[in-house]
Amino acid sequence: LKTNSFLQDAVVFKFTNFECKSYNLSWFVFHNYRLKAVSRDRVLLNMNGTVLHPVNNIHLHAKIFKRASGFKPWVLESNIDACRYMRKPYDPFISIVYNIFKEFTNINHTCPYVGLQVVKDFYLKPELLHLPFPSGEYLLTMKWYFNRKRQFETNVSFIYVEDLLNRN
Ligand SMILES: *[C@@H]1O[C@H](CO)[C@@H](O)[C@H](O)[C@H]1NC(C)=O
Ligand SMILES: *[C@@H]1O[C@H](CO)[C@@H](O)[C@H](O)[C@H]1NC(C)=O
Ligand SMILES: *[C@@H]1O[C@H](CO)[C@@H](O)[C@H](O)[C@H]1NC(C)=O
Ligand SMILES: *[C@@H]1O[C@H](CO)[C@@H](O)[C@H](O)[C@H]1NC(C)=O
Repeated sequence: LKTNSFLQDAVVFKFTNFECKSYNLSWFVFHNYRLKAVSRDRVLLNMNGTVLHPVNNIHLHAKIFKRASGFKPWVLESNIDACRYMRKPYDPFISIVYNIFKEFTNINHTCPYVGLQVVKDFYLKPELLHLPFPSGEYLLTMKWYFNRKRQFETNVSFIYVEDLLNRN
């Protein structure tokens, strides 16, 4: 029977763009960041970069935009103390993002951070998104601060198409 694969195909959740930029090459450098489509529904995100000096004070400003003739701010936005968060998660929005990507990275530890930071073959699994997202294209911007100064930025866009057939 084809029903099962048809229902699974009805959810699309994949990366569409990925941009990174360092604002302080003496503290954080990107070596590589790219997307690679491996099938119609799966796009892998790879990123690596080096923290050149140990950092114990990290803040993250994360914000979601939704495309509607240009990306417009959407409902989700958080500012967190990342060192505190890694000791004990306390922000529900960041936890949604972190839970989707933690198995693909070596950042799963507490501060300090130093040396090579890697995200490897990360792809989006709809079953990990415990949130009702309307279908559309989204942009997640993340601005990273060390000692309260902006160091680098990662922008990732993705599309999400609801599984309308599986509802009720
Ligand atoms: C990330 O997106 C924001 C909002 O659109 C934009 O201002 C910023 O320049 C982008 N940064 C990069 C590295 O693409
Ligand atoms: C850039 O990084 C260096 C560490 O290598 C740090 O001392 C300096 O304060 C940083 N500058 C800014 C503007 O963040
Ligand atoms: C970063 O990733 C690229 C491609 O995945 C790899 O060729 C390179 O060796 C990596 N760099 C480091 C420093 O691990
Ligand atoms: C890191 O991963 C391990 C094993 O998956 C988990 O037990 C631990 O709570 C994680 N640490 C953080 C800071 O999320």
